Amino acid sequence: MTSSFNVHNAAGYEQLMGRWSQRLATPFIDFAGLADGEKILDVGCGTGSLTFALARAADLSEIAAIDYSPVFVEEAIRRNTDPRINIRQADACALPFADGAFDRALALLVLHFVPEAGKAVAEMRRVVRPGGVVAAAVWDHLGGMPGMRMMVDTVAALSEGGRQLRARYCFQPMMRPGEMKRTFVEEGLADVTETQLMIRMDYRNFDDYWAPIAAGEGPLGKYVATLDAAGRARVDAAMRDAYEAGQPDGPRSFANVAWACRGIVP
Ligand SMILES: C[S@@+](CC[C@H](N)C(=O)[O-])C[C@H]1O[C@@H](n2cnc3c(N)ncnc32)[C@H](O)[C@@H]1O
Repeated sequence: MTSSFNVHNAAGYEQLMGRWSQRLATPFIDFAGLADGEKILDVGCGTGSLTFALARAADLSEIAAIDYSPVFVEEAIRRNTDPRINIRQADACALPFADGAFDRALALLVLHFVPEAGKAVAEMRRVVRPGGVVAAAVWDHLGGMPGMRMMVDTVAALSEGGRQLRARYCFQPMMRPGEMKRTFVEEGLADVTETQLMIRMDYRNFDDYWAPIAAGEGPLGKYVATLDAAGRARVDAAMRDAYEAGQPDGPRSFANVAWACRGIVP
């Protein structure tokens, strides 16, 4: 298996994550660096949060974007109006590009869904020229994502299936401190640095938070979709209670931390 990501539909993804990955794209680009005239590869572009932010951030000569999911590739192509951007379906572990074809390869919120993440890093290194940059960011589900942690802790208290979801979710690939840095070094990248990037996720009310998960989007939505009617009703009620936290329904804001790593191709 080359991807553990669960795609339901593109609009649901936007509400679950795309609106926040657009926010994270700016500090990630600042960390990865960018210069006018460069050729950039966006690995795991999804619906295009990073792709379109790259196009706005510098006068690039070309942006190639790939994703494993045909649903997301179709949506990103539908949104694209920039002739410098080329989007296609491909696997991060077998990139369809020549050695040294790019100045930088970037992956935003992708490597934690790639079971063989080291292979993807090796491929990103291969397609970047010597002196170019490979950079990636993944969420810290265990220690840096309180809004989603609230969901997995709540379902873990309700059932064994929920406990298993939490164990999987908190320890996806590349999420442990230093794990991505070690992988970059093992794959032969030089001057490797790891940092943390923080954004807030601001929800209008419980429905704004819960609707995409309730509709089956992402890894947490996939779990909810497995529940029977009684289990589902218990989870819905417990999640509302956790979100409201003893106050009337309304806006809630959560700080979220991503690990980000960058290395130079020797
Ligand atoms: C959380 S989304 C991030 C999408 C986008 N980069 C963003 O920040 O909004 C994870 C993406 O990784 C993609 N993905 C997972 N495994 C992949 C693989 N082996 N090759 C290419 N894309 C992959 C998924 O299809 C999905 O679009």
